[in-house]
Amino acid sequence: MTFSGKRILLIIGGGIAAYKSLDLIRRLRERGALVRCVMTGAAQQFVTPLAVGALSADHVFTDLFDRQDEQDVGHIRLSREADMIVVAPATADLMAKLANGLANDLASAVLLATDKPVVMAPAMNPKMWTHPATRRNHATLEKDGVAFVGPNKGEMAESGEAGEGRMAEPLEIVAAIEARLDTRPKPLAGRRIIVTSGPTHEPIDPVRYIANRSSGKQGHAIAAALARLGADVRLVSGPVGIPDPAGIDTIHVESAREMRDAVEGLLPADAAVFVAAVADWRTANSADEKIKKVPGDGPPTLQMVENPDILATIGHHRNRPYLVVGFAAETQNIVANAETKLKKKGVDFIVANDVSAAGGAMGGDRNRVKIVSRTGVEAWPDMSKDEVAARLADVIAERLKTVAV
Ligand SMILES: Cc1cc2nc3c(=O)[nH]c(=O)nc-3n(C[C@H](O)[C@H](O)[C@H](O)COP(=O)(O)O)c2cc1C
Repeated sequence: MTFSGKRILLIIGGGIAAYKSLDLIRRLRERGALVRCVMTGAAQQFVTPLAVGALSADHVFTDLFDRQDEQDVGHIRLSREADMIVVAPATADLMAKLANGLANDLASAVLLATDKPVVMAPAMNPKMWTHPATRRNHATLEKDGVAFVGPNKGEMAESGEAGEGRMAEPLEIVAAIEARLDTRPKPLAGRRIIVTSGPTHEPIDPVRYIANRSSGKQGHAIAAALARLGADVRLVSGPVGIPDPAGIDTIHVESAREMRDAVEGLLPADAAVFVAAVADWRTANSADEKIKKVPGDGPPTLQMVENPDILATIGHHRNRPYLVVGFAAETQNIVANAETKLKKKGVDFIVANDVSAAGGAMGGDRNRVKIVSRTGVEAWPDMSKDEVAARLADVIAERLKTVAV
């Protein structure tokens, strides 16, 4: 489990987003974290200590001057007994207090008394977030080493309010915590890497399209694995039913042409990994109106044309990334086809996978791949897609090691 035995002290501030912290507690605990919570007085107006205590399975701390708590734990021990402090939601008020060294309640006293890493997930009205005072406090806290996740743009709880100020989603906060707790080396720090993932949808008319069975699981896992090694990952994803990998900039596209444009727009990059199952063909002219079934006319004939070959485009691009990696989904002659692709498309290596019914890679959770490069073929054993991703990220880090950042 990602957080096995890690002790997270979660400070819940007084904002509407406090309800999301209940989910955050669950998410952290299901990953093996021990979660202890401090609630501000204002937070208790939004969620109850009862709910927070039930979810965290621990006493909830609310008062600086609670004799019982001070004797048993106390604000110094609360911070000492944590591996990390997370403030979610971080109110404008809590940010202001810590930025200015105030410590007049339990939450602010714990924050001032700690030398542990602090992650803040701000949530507030967009006007509060953009106020010069909050801007100053944010800058000060960043300078002091506080890590921030969010806020995101979008609808606010107050009706009619929208803008930057929504608290990051619980899974994004989990990813930020994970990144901070992860002290492994970051060999891809400073590297910009483009990853494509998922299928493309090629329209037939406004309601119909040609697609394939790619789920995006492998591409998304690779994006996450590269980010864990420190890369600045840009993911270009076709339509998939899985969430964006937490904390990764994701561009959503539908068709092969949109995917090509998005990828070209992201150049230059140090590496690009083309995992998406891009449709080879699209209809020559997609109809503007839904194609009607006319009795007696029979089925329509679809005229197909070739889609842009994104891999070859980038493999031969004047701004070609140093390392270009392609995926080849094949159902037969896997290695021979990958070798042909390698030569034609100007890529460094191909990850060939068997997507026949027997291979089962498309949509499934496991993958058996072969790495086909100019120097030969390396067959990897059957692994989870996460394991394939981690191993591929290591290979990419190794290949980029000798290239100046
Ligand atoms: C309905 C309501 C919603 C609020 N939502 C927020 C919020 O999202 N973010 C924020 O910074 N303050 C918000 N406030 C103001 C804080 O609750 C207030 O500043 C409080 O003193 C914060 O205390 P704390 O930082 O100790 O939790 C809200 C107030 C009310 C009445």
